[in-house]
Amino acid sequence: MDGNGRWAKKRLLPRAMGHKKGVEAVRNLVRSLRGTGIEALTLYAFSTENWGRPADEIADLTALMKHFIRSDLDEIAEAGVRLNIIGDHSAFDEEAVALIEGAIARTADNREVVLTIALNYGSQAEIVRAARAAAAEGEVTEEAIARHLDTADLPPLDLLIRTSGELRLSNFLLWQAAYAELYFTDVLWPDFKPEHLRQAIEHFSGRERRYGGR
Ligand code: FPP
Repeated sequence: MDGNGRWAKKRLLPRAMGHKKGVEAVRNLVRSLRGTGIEALTLYAFSTENWGRPADEIADLTALMKHFIRSDLDEIAEAGVRLNIIGDHSAFDEEAVALIEGAIARTADNREVVLTIALNYGSQAEIVRAARAAAAEGEVTEEAIARHLDTADLPPLDLLIRTSGELRLSNFLLWQAAYAELYFTDVLWPDFKPEHLRQAIEHFSGRERRYGGR
């Protein structure tokens, strides 16, 4: 969800305002999923590298996450959304951990769509953990690694969108992206609307996926 900082800077606002607008974009996008047939949406909210940001920005992001759960959980739960986390959310403060775990438990039986938030997530570390777990069980195969990834219970990744003109994957779902379509847009995350997701999906639908075959 790149571009919150630049969105705020362009308007001479504090970065925190960009993140706040970013949460509004999340809310609108999740609301728009109903009836689209999208089974899963995974959002990169906080990378393992994000701990390197100033303490006040980390505090702002943590506060926004807590606020999001408090304000939106009823709506999410009633809309049939299952909330899922990848990464190690135990690194956040006790209150955040309790809210996250409460939200996971409350929505566990929902089947409409899975909303996964990547928190304290880094793909290379995830692959190492999965490979170690596979080795502890026996032969290290692609299937065994995939079974131990944080995303093991999610459908295969079809489309990966990066906002704000960045042309990198930045340690997000590297294994899972092996056959995903990649979509890069200059739109800053706070400006990313359901309409932009629709455009990305249209683009995706127009591409022929060959999985290495011909
Ligand atoms: C990247 O923009 C954005 C982040 C590091 C944080 C994203 C988190 C949220 C929107 C809030 C929490 C999420 C949920 C699901 C409630 P940036 O700061 O790197 O902006 P820049 O690329 O313009 O500098």
